[in-house]
Amino acid sequence: MNDINHFIAGLPKAELHLHIEGTFEPELMFKLAERNNITLPYESVEALHKAYDFNELQDFLDIYYQGMNVLRSEQDFYDLTWAYLEKVAAQNVRHIEIFFDPQGHVDRGISFETGLNGIFSALQQGEQEFDISFGIIMCFLRHLSEDDAFKTLELALPHKDKIIGVGLDSSEVGHPPSKFERVYAKARQEGFHSVAHAGEEGPPAYIWEALDLLKVERIDHGNSCLQDAALVEHIVKEQIPLTVCPLSNTKLCVVDDMKNHPLPEMLKRGIKATINSDDPAYFGGYLNENYQAISPLLGDNKEALATLARNSFTSAFISDDAKQGFLAEVDAYLQAN
Ligand code: ADE
Ligand code: ZN
Repeated sequence: MNDINHFIAGLPKAELHLHIEGTFEPELMFKLAERNNITLPYESVEALHKAYDFNELQDFLDIYYQGMNVLRSEQDFYDLTWAYLEKVAAQNVRHIEIFFDPQGHVDRGISFETGLNGIFSALQQGEQEFDISFGIIMCFLRHLSEDDAFKTLELALPHKDKIIGVGLDSSEVGHPPSKFERVYAKARQEGFHSVAHAGEEGPPAYIWEALDLLKVERIDHGNSCLQDAALVEHIVKEQIPLTVCPLSNTKLCVVDDMKNHPLPEMLKRGIKATINSDDPAYFGGYLNENYQAISPLLGDNKEALATLARNSFTSAFISDDAKQGFLAEVDAYLQAN
């Protein structure tokens, strides 16, 4: 491993944009399919890997929803989450806030609690074994109706001890944040944190809506903000974090080539950007690999990489004390390396 990759590997960091269903590695998918007597429409792990060739977000989503079909029991969700935890524990990820898509499961007869409890118990075990703190954010699927989202929020209300916030994901274009203004108002009233995917394929207007109408605390992706100077000014002034996902962006053709990734420009303009993996099993890398992909664009500069790690902690839904503790870890690491 070269020096900068070695530095990245040991750097303490948080992951704030990660769909747990997007961590489903083909090997595990085949194993759980067998356990549940499901026949996958692919002959082998290699054939499934080959299908991970996307021209846009929807190409990926079609395969992503097909993949999650295999998840049936609480143990399946536990095993999926545990496999992710083992990966990121080895990458010195210290805190995670993970998304799950309850509607992707409830709509095919798997109860809200089956998914939530499996994910939560793995995360609790991970906290004990790996000292990784965590939060769960449940996402509304934006291609479904407002009514569906309200029903999902109702299902979450008895589980406020396990769920810290709500998010919005799935097919962006044609499903603006405004569709969910009333659902988010209710979620906020119930004490949930809020985030939303915006500006991945959608226009800057969707980011404005997420901020002004949904009143979200972070924007997931947010790439298109750079097309709107007034929006950039607002995001910088309010220090709204963006959870940016480099390998996702190139895999889904949101960015044509990594060398043209907008992250350096975001940082230059004062945007509080963070690095995340989104759906690592589908996009070719976990958190370290996403830092590694961006690092050359920042001149392989350790201070710049440490800034990204600091941003990940200060953007997290954790106490000020916890933030200070993690920032001290980053500073100590930077001094020693
Ligand atoms: N669901 C999982 N990953 C997603 C992404 N990158 N954008 C929108 N919805 C998603
Ligand atoms: Zn995402």
